[in-house]
Formats: sequence, C-alpha cells, structure tokens
Amino acid sequence: MRVFTGIQPSGTLHLGNYFGSIQQMVQLQNDNELFMFIADYHALTSLKDPQALKANTLEAAISYLSLGIDPQKTIMWAQSDVKEVLELYWILSAYTPMGLLERAHSYKDKVAKGIAANHALFSYPVLMAADILLYDAEVVPVGKDQIQHVEITRDIAIKFNNDHCEAFTLPNFKVDDNIAAVPGIDGAKMSKSYGNTIDIFTTEKALKKQTGKIVTQSVPVEEPKEYENCNVYNLSKLFLNNNELIELQERYQRGGEGHGHFKLYLKERIWDYFEAPRQKRAYYLEHQDEVKDILLEGAKKAQEIAAVKMQKIRDAVGIYR
Ligand code: ADP
Ligand code: TRP
Repeated sequence: MRVFTGIQPSGTLHLGNYFGSIQQMVQLQNDNELFMFIADYHALTSLKDPQALKANTLEAAISYLSLGIDPQKTIMWAQSDVKEVLELYWILSAYTPMGLLERAHSYKDKVAKGIAANHALFSYPVLMAADILLYDAEVVPVGKDQIQHVEITRDIAIKFNNDHCEAFTLPNFKVDDNIAAVPGIDGAKMSKSYGNTIDIFTTEKALKKQTGKIVTQSVPVEEPKEYENCNVYNLSKLFLNNNELIELQERYQRGGEGHGHFKLYLKERIWDYFEAPRQKRAYYLEHQDEVKDILLEGAKKAQEIAAVKMQKIRDAVGIYR
C-alpha cells in the first residue's frame, strides 16, 4: 500500500507526537511503501522567519531519522525539493470551486487564532491536494483535524477525473481510533498550543522540570495514593511493561512515597527510552550534510514519480509542451 504523510516542520517534538503519530509511521514503513515529506511550503503560511523555517525543516528530518524513520525503506524529502507540486497546485486551483475552500474549518480556525488571512493560508488545502495526488497516494494517515483536507483532496480529484478520464487515484484518510490522546502535564491533551508538553529531545534538567510540573493531587507522603486518575501514572503507562506497571501501582497503594518520587521515576524512564534516538540525533546534528543528502536522495525518487505524473496532467489540460 502506498502510504503518504506530510509533516509540519514546527520545531520541538513532544510525547504526544511520538506516541500519537511517529511510532506508527516507523512501524508502517516495514510493510508499506511509505512516502514522507516535510511540508516547508505549507509552513510558510504561518512561519515568516526565514532562519527558523530553514532550521525547522532540517530539524524535522533529523528528529524523524533519529526516531526510526529509515531512508532505505521510506522515501523522505523536503516538499520544496520537488517543484512539480507547485505546478500541480496551480492546475488544481483551476478545478477547485471557491465554496469548497470557504467551508474549510482549518482556515477559519487559524484566522480566528489571529494568523493573518493570506491567500496561501486560504488555498492551503489545494497544495495539500497536489501533494497527495501527485504521488497517487492511497492511504493518508491523519489526525482528526486533517480529515477535511483529505476530503477536499478527494472532491478536487473527482472533479478533475470527471473532466479528464480518471487521472488521479482517490486517496483515503486513515484515523487510528486505537491511539489514545497522550495527556499533557495538566491532564488535557498534550499540545504545543496548550503549553503542556513534555518534549522528546531536551536536556535532562529541562525534562526534570517538565515532569516536575505534572499536576497531581496533594496527599501526605505517608498515605496511599490513587493511581487511576493520576497524570504521572497515566504518562508512565507509555513507558512501562505490565510487571513494571503492577510494581508502580503497588508503590502508589503502599504509601510512604510522594508524587515527587513518581515524577522522578517517570523522568528516568523517559530519559532512558529516548537514549538511542538522542545519540542518533547528536550524530546527525554534527553531520547535517548527510541529512541534506538523505533529503536530496528522497527528492530524486519522489521527483521521478512526480515528473511522469505531471506530464500526463499537462497533456490532459492542454499545456502545449
Ligand atoms: P500540536 O497539537 O502539539 O500542535 P500537531 O498538531 O503538530 O501537535 O501534531 C502532529 C501529530 O502528532 C498529529 O498526527 C497528531 O495527531 C499527533 N499528536 C499531537 N498531539 C498528540 C497527543 N496529545 N496525543 C496523540 N497524538 C498527538
Ligand atoms: N496539513 C498537514 C498538517 O498540518 C501537513 C500536510 C501537508 C500533509 N501536506 C500533506 C499531510 C499531505 C498529509 C498529506 O499536519
């Protein structure tokens, strides 16, 4: 199956990103044809700092490689390295009714949040449709907020296919209902926009600080504690096997330890869990040319597919060459 995903180069990754998305990608690459690109053109709709955009693009590649994306198995590239996508974006724009974009929630939400309402923000779904349709993607794993974008992609493709004999494969979105939302330090869904994250690649000191801020009930040290609704326990579940979980439950029930002990224990587990990715990341940070080469190799493979597809589309719509 050709599985396709775009990632926003938005800086620091947190535990929600890992357990809610990256871990699945790393597994998917074993028995699928995984296409993964860093959506730097999309990021331009909200990020206007050139240094930050460049740095975030490389940072995203480094982080994904460190967390297990294998360039031998996955085609990974930066969106801006395959220019065909912009040509398709324009052609698709001519097949996109205004009403379709006017109904997009994500545009309305972003404007409501105070992001300037520029044209790129409005036509964001058309570029996303170009991303997906250029490569005949079959499955697009997404979070719930992106479902409508894949539906818009399908609507554009259906309209184009009606006029030009089945030019595009219709993609399906895939939302994994088994993935529970990872809670943040306040118990709400972990998200950059809520400022409640625990970050994957951070210093041990900062990790201690973030885990130290997890909201817990106040119960005297010597008394037994409830683990069921404890934010520290719920986060610990991500890192412990069954036996370790039972041991932790017993520690809660026994009393004699405060939540501070459990927070420190969680911090240790998180730190250990990401030890190998941290080392890989340190390597890639020192060898950024290697990362650029990996992206370029990925872009070459993606571009071969894109070039063939684009030629068919140019012919279909009447571009003279
Ligand atoms: P944020 O909310 O921090 O801005 P993004 O929207 O950039 O996160 O999320 C990127 C990916 O990580 C999406 O696939 C999303 O579903 C997943 N993700 C983000 N936060 C969580 C969470 N708390 N639990 C599960 N998955 C999450
Ligand atoms: N819009 C997606 C997000 O915000 C990123 C993205 C851009 C994407 N193009 C895509 C995702 C194509 C899947 C397929 O997360």
